[in-house]
Amino acid sequence: MASERLTERRRVYQQYKADVKERGKPFFPYAMWHDTIMSLVVVVVIIGLAVVWKYTTPGNHHTTDPGWLGKLYDNPADPGTINFVPRPDWYYYFLFYLLRIFKWPESVLLGTIGIPTIALLLLIALPFIDLRSERRISRRPVAIIAGILVVISMGVLTFKGATAKEALGSELLGHVSAWAKKEGYTGNQAAVKGAKLFAVSGCLNCHVYNGDGGQNLGAPELTAEGAKNKGIAFQIAHLKCPSCKNPGSPMPSFAGLGDDRLKLLATFLESSKGSK
Ligand code: HEC
Repeated sequence: MASERLTERRRVYQQYKADVKERGKPFFPYAMWHDTIMSLVVVVVIIGLAVVWKYTTPGNHHTTDPGWLGKLYDNPADPGTINFVPRPDWYYYFLFYLLRIFKWPESVLLGTIGIPTIALLLLIALPFIDLRSERRISRRPVAIIAGILVVISMGVLTFKGATAKEALGSELLGHVSAWAKKEGYTGNQAAVKGAKLFAVSGCLNCHVYNGDGGQNLGAPELTAEGAKNKGIAFQIAHLKCPSCKNPGSPMPSFAGLGDDRLKLLATFLESSKGSK
């Protein structure tokens, strides 16, 4: 078996050498000429697209007219935002969704580094694993099925990433009255106001509350935070400086919200005794 394979490889190699002698062309100048022309074509196309983009788009900072190939400027970044939801470009949606499937912290390294690295290593190793000279599609079922599976799974992940629901403040605001009903603080104005702040302040990017949001960085679920009876003063102090109260905490400081709003948030947290 092994020697059969070896003879086959020798035969293919001899065939290859003979083909080169008969029809081969030297690298210089043929391949170099070919590559130079192709690179020039690519550069010229990019320059052409840039020129078309620039001259078909109305050009000032405030326009939202996308022209033919997209707008000239995005909205300026807001350095004061506290509820920005980061989203990748479309070609990273598959990785973005892969990240969501894995849970912090046990398997997140597997999802972000492990699986992509294994896939890449397999791809690099492929020429060393598959040594046959066979190139007909019908004779390579394993490679074909693997290829189709990769395309399907990346397609599904990209679709799921594109349509994934974010913990968007504007959407979560609509859930506040349902939260209040479940937790029984509908009559407590301060708690309801705090819940609205909670919905729009990005807390649900890390915390789960009554089924909303997503768990990140090991943040605890807050549905029954009030049942711990830590008190308003603790909650305010923790929001101002999480790591002062719980050493090593990766939660960011929310001191920037100001004392009044922190008090509302704290009231909301202490009123959240758990869902009924
Ligand atoms: C970047 C992620 C992140 C964000 C955003 C975040 N938290 Fe946290 N939070 C954590 C982590 C991690 C912990 C666990 C460590 C700790 O207790 O500080 C935590 C703990 C808490 C606790 C439990 C404290 C205790 O000891 O009982 C409360 C309450 C809390 N967060 C409220 C909030 C509120 C309210 C917001 C929004 C204003 C918020 N968090 C935003 C990550 C986050």
